[in-house]
Parts: sequence; structure tokens; C-alpha cells
Amino acid sequence: MTDFQGLKALVTGGASGIGRATAELLAARGAQVAVLDLDPSSVDKPLLGFRADVTDDTSVREAVAAAVAELGGLDVLVNNAGIGAQGTVEDNDDAEWQRVFDVNLFGMVRTARAALPHLRESRHAAIVNTCSIAATAGLPQRALYSATKGAVYSLTLAMAADHIREGIRVNCVNPGTADTPWIGRLLAKAPDPAAERAALEARQPTGRLVSADEVAGAIAYLASPLSGATTGTSLAVDGGMQGLRLRPVGR
Ligand SMILES: NC(=O)c1ccc[n+]([C@@H]2O[C@H](COP(=O)([O-])OP(=O)(O)OC[C@H]3O[C@@H](n4cnc5c(N)ncnc54)[C@H](O)[C@@H]3O)[C@@H](O)[C@H]2O)c1
Repeated sequence: MTDFQGLKALVTGGASGIGRATAELLAARGAQVAVLDLDPSSVDKPLLGFRADVTDDTSVREAVAAAVAELGGLDVLVNNAGIGAQGTVEDNDDAEWQRVFDVNLFGMVRTARAALPHLRESRHAAIVNTCSIAATAGLPQRALYSATKGAVYSLTLAMAADHIREGIRVNCVNPGTADTPWIGRLLAKAPDPAAERAALEARQPTGRLVSADEVAGAIAYLASPLSGATTGTSLAVDGGMQGLRLRPVGR
């Protein structure tokens, strides 16, 4: 498919996992793609790498301006950079709540603010936010992380309303547990990594983790000019975890 031919895209957190798979897929489908990341050192041609910390407004503005200058415009923003947090509402102090919100929610706000003037110039403008099943299902030990993603979901709807008359579509993807370096780090910290992986796989009706490529495919679908009538939606990419209620095998 070449539906992104001639379009310019920016992917935050694009040096790893879901963001990396998305940047590569958009490029394969014809886009010129810039990656904004804390550490873009692994980003190779044809992707363009820009160093920025989404918690720092100046850093975001400078990187977005540099990326847009090099790309020659901007049509697609994928707001994907994010970090995890574990525990109940009691387990993290104020500083940790602020740190995780600063990346997962305010980071998207900063990048969108910097990108919007450029997106208004596009005839096919789209923003896709990486949300999570944690926004729509109660998961244990994820109070802080879930709160950030619930906010991302609401922000997606509000932005879709605010910018629809400017021709800018805004949607989000809600991945289930996806097999990325992030989950690799999480498993490495578990007392029994194999048992933890098996528990995460069993939680999904498909019996396996989601792949980064599968999430990238959904992001590309929402970002594509072919989806011009789709805005203000969330697309679950979760192996059926949100919507299905299976009976135990054999019953
Ligand atoms: N992996 C999952 O199971 C899963 C499930 C649902 C949602 N998500 C979401 O998907 C997104 C990507 O996750 P992933 O699993 O690919 O993670 P990952 O850790 O593999 O990649 C995240 C990338 O974001 C970058 N990043 C982190 N903080 C940043 C900052 N302050 N400024 C700039 N870049 C920063 C990292 O350097 C990294 O390259 C996140 O928003 C996450 O919440 C992941």
C-alpha cells in the first residue's frame, strides 16, 4: 500500500517498540517519517531521528520545528511516548504521580501544541494517540498508569471535537499487553518471569501478547487518508481483552 505517499509523519517514542514499528510501517507505506525520542541513536534511514524529552516544552518545540523543517511540512502526528507505573493508589507518592502524568499526558499535550499549526496546513491531517486498555478496563496494580491513559482517552475525544472543523482527525489506539522492550523490562523484574509472561498471555482471549506490528497497523489505519471519516474513536488492539467474555476451555 502507498496510501501515505507524499505525507510527512512524526512519531514520538519512535525509537522503540510500538513507536518504532509504526514509524517503519508509515515509511514502508510511502510517508517521510521523523522520530522524536529521548534516545534516537538507534534510528536509521529512511527515518529521521530527533532527540527530545516530551516533559520539556522547549525541547519538544525545538524538535518539532526541526523535524517539520526537514520533512517540509507535517500531516500525521503519532503521540506515542509513554512510561509505565505499578501499584495501587497508595503505592506512589506525589512526585511519581506528577512524573508519569508529565510524560504520558502532558507530553502528548506539548507535542500536539507544537504540531497543530503545521497540521492545519495539511489536507490530510491526523493525530493518533497511543492510549491503552488500562483506560477502559480496571487492571490490578495500575492505578497511576490507568489514570494517565484514561486522561489520554478523554483528551482524544476533546481534541477530535476541537479540531474537526480545521480538518484534523484525532483518534487513539488501545493496545492490550504488547510484546515490546517495555514488557521485556517488566518481565525481567518479576520474581518468576516465565510465570508472569504466562499470566499476561492467559489474560488475553487470543492466549498471546499483542505484537508491536499489530498496534502499528491499527495506528496506520487511523492515520491514513483512507480513514477520512473516522475521528473521535478508540480502536482496541487487545486480542479481545476488552470486549469478550470467554468460557473456560472445555466448558
Ligand atoms: N507495551 C504494552 O503492553 C503497551 C500496552 C498499552 C499501551 N502501551 C503504550 O504504548 C506506548 C509505547 O510503549 P512501548 O511498549 O512501545 O514502550 P517502549 O519502552 O518500547 O518505547 C517507548 C519509547 O518512548 C520513549 N520515551 C519515553 N519517555 C520519553 C520522553 N520523556 N520523551 C521522549 N521519548 C520518551 C523511549 O525512549 C522509548 O523509545 C506507550 O504510550 C505505552 O503506554 C504499551
